[in-house]
Amino acid sequence: SEAARRYESLRVEHRGDALWVTIDRPKAMNALAQAVVAELADLTERLAAALPALDRAASGRPAADRSMGAQPEGEWVCRAVVITGGGEKAFVAGADIREMSAMTADEAHDYSRSMQAVTERLEALPVPVIAAVNGFALGGGCELALACDFIYASANASFGQPEVSLGLVPGFGGSVRLQQRVSPAMARELILTGRRIRAEEALRIGLANRVVDDVAALAEAVDATVAEIAAQAPTAVANAKATMNAVAPLPVSDGLATEAESFRSAFTTEDSRVGRDAFLAKESAHFPGR
Ligand code: CAA
Repeated sequence: SEAARRYESLRVEHRGDALWVTIDRPKAMNALAQAVVAELADLTERLAAALPALDRAASGRPAADRSMGAQPEGEWVCRAVVITGGGEKAFVAGADIREMSAMTADEAHDYSRSMQAVTERLEALPVPVIAAVNGFALGGGCELALACDFIYASANASFGQPEVSLGLVPGFGGSVRLQQRVSPAMARELILTGRRIRAEEALRIGLANRVVDDVAALAEAVDATVAEIAAQAPTAVANAKATMNAVAPLPVSDGLATEAESFRSAFTTEDSRVGRDAFLAKESAHFPGR
């Protein structure tokens, strides 16, 4: 949190068991200028280093690798990360169009790669990452939300991939992740029309998990879900997330083999011993987090 104070465009605060990261450039609708991407890169690197690392890589090792074990060392500095936008109107209105107007094609490629790296690091964190979408989530903003494990939204939120209206295409993961999150046909309709949709429609198509009345209710809904997560075994939550990441691209039989390896490694944790013993003793579990 010493480091957190040095960020220009991010506010980083502990709230309950979560670390809330607010993209805070409301004058530009929280657009992801290169400086913001650099700060997100720094923050996600620090977080990955500060949180316990599961040996079991989120990128998925071959199921034959018997060395993987869910034995994280270190402290759980937070049990979830929440990403939201500063100000009244926007979550994140995308890549910074003003900056992009002066970019060469190669610079645009680098811009894309650096923000994609941030999204991959969010996916690899051993804690759930929740997008609290409180306004416009457009282009790179929608893509940032898609890199989160799931999305909660306030009723004033809207989503879209308007890149084609600028003669561009999604560059921070949208072509890949929108097809995975909603149906491929719905992703194509949204990306090919550039259409903006309201929160209720995002809910209907499965882009958002929950829509609440306003920003205050959004924070409360996120807090309640974070509390649910924080009551579970830290290593198991991390293992479950890493396993779902690893199996997503796999054929069913390979995915099942990977799942069985994760199930095996869960049995090597103190958390699983504590959890099973507490159940049988009809007590609530106090997980050591290792
Ligand atoms: N980049 C830079 N500045 C932006 C911005 C962006 N993406 N979005 C908004 N702003 C700036 C505006 O230029 C404006 O600045 P000034 O006050 O200096 O004029 C300020 O934020 C407020 O915006 P508006 O006046 O436009 O506010 P509004 O309420 O009328 O509209 C909006 C809000 C619908 C979000 C509108 O600003 C908008 O359409 N923004 C662009 C959305 C977009 O196209 N995003 C995709 C970018 S491309 C991309 O993201 C590529 C990728 O995949 C990586």
